[in-house]
Amino acid sequence: MRQEIEQRKQRRILITGGAGFIGSNFVRHWCEKYPSDSIIVLDALTYAGNLNNIADLQDRDNFRFVKGDICDRPLIDRLLREENIDTIAHFAAESHVDRSILGPDAFIKTNIVGSFTLLDSFRHYWIEQGKIHDYLFLHVSTDEVYGSLGQEDPAFRETTAYAPNSPYSASKASSDHLARAYYHTYGMPTIITNCSNNYGPYHFPEKLIPLMCINILLGKPLPVYGDGQNIRDWLYVGDHCHALDTVIHQGKPGETYNIGGNNEVKNIDLVTQLCDLMDELAPNLPVKPARDLIAFVKDRPGHDRRYAIDATKIKTELGWTPQENVEAGLRKTIAWYLNNRDWWQPLLSKEYQDYYQQVYS
Ligand code: NAD
Ligand code: DAU
Repeated sequence: MRQEIEQRKQRRILITGGAGFIGSNFVRHWCEKYPSDSIIVLDALTYAGNLNNIADLQDRDNFRFVKGDICDRPLIDRLLREENIDTIAHFAAESHVDRSILGPDAFIKTNIVGSFTLLDSFRHYWIEQGKIHDYLFLHVSTDEVYGSLGQEDPAFRETTAYAPNSPYSASKASSDHLARAYYHTYGMPTIITNCSNNYGPYHFPEKLIPLMCINILLGKPLPVYGDGQNIRDWLYVGDHCHALDTVIHQGKPGETYNIGGNNEVKNIDLVTQLCDLMDELAPNLPVKPARDLIAFVKDRPGHDRRYAIDATKIKTELGWTPQENVEAGLRKTIAWYLNNRDWWQPLLSKEYQDYYQQVYS
């Protein structure tokens, strides 16, 4: 093991979207595990990006934060050369399905045009550098590109046909196809990962788990879409970061790896479990039992019924499996939200309240 660490090539990694939820957890993971690597974070700081997520990392010598848009070609061209980047971990995206239903434009721009801009800039740079074989473009994507499963369907495999159902998942599918094409056409070393629902620290309040935690703390209704029977496969964000680390070091260019938590749960069961854990862990809740706050609301248009990941390939080929079960992961997540009110309270801004009104009123 020691020998492996000594032989590891130091990397100069560009992390896009590194001020968002998964990106910031990944930046932290990489800083802690590979302190000698150079880390450059590029993030436009949209409503979902938050410099507080990585504030404690910014004083490091080999760390640079750049505020910028992945659609800005001259900026990307310059950054790759200035920083001698050899690895891109591409997280930057518009990521929320409900927002893509309200307004798809930003999803087309960032997720499709932005991903294309990064891929094409990296292609020119990689050719200029002599097509070095261990350069890598890691494209972080989602299981939503595979569409919706019925109760008895087998879980998504890497060979499952794409069938995206929302503007968000269609835009992610489009960027996956571009990443795939850049490997097949130009031989550019590109890997795609398709991952299930993440949860954990620094998760923006609009998503199911943080939204429910925060609403319980505020004594507000817990809006469950439709009949609450939709199923998601929950993955603790730390497990996802380990999986991506494994893929960067051992994955094969041109391949796709599915990453899942092995934790399929119905939304209503997840929310109920969360309520019970909050009753146990949170002092002085305004409404107790928190289950009393559950309110079924109008369904999300085109709401996918079930996602499930078959992660056999990454397990058998690269040796990765998730470590966290839902209960342990939820306990850690709740503890984080209880201890970090200063992080989430400012995010409940007027913009957020307006968004909330639009979706839930
Ligand atoms: P997020 O919305 O929390 O963060 C996205 C980040 O990208 C933000 O910091 C934002 O400022 C930045 N960004 C947005 N547009 C940009 C642009 N044009 N230029 C530069 N930066 C920009 O998203 P997340 O949940 O952390 O997801 C990260 C990636 O993982 C996304 O590609 C998403 O599709 C994928 N993914 C997410 C999940 C999940 O459960 N959250 C699951 C599977 C895959
Ligand atoms: O599957 C991976 C995807 O997971 C990622 O690609 C997306 O970026 C990420 O946002 C997430 O998408 P979902 O739509 O599955 O996540 P969300 O947290 O929005 O919703 C999870 C489930 O909970 C979904 O079935 C909708 C439901 N839901 C969500 C909200 C916000 C509710 O019932 N009520 C709510 O208020």
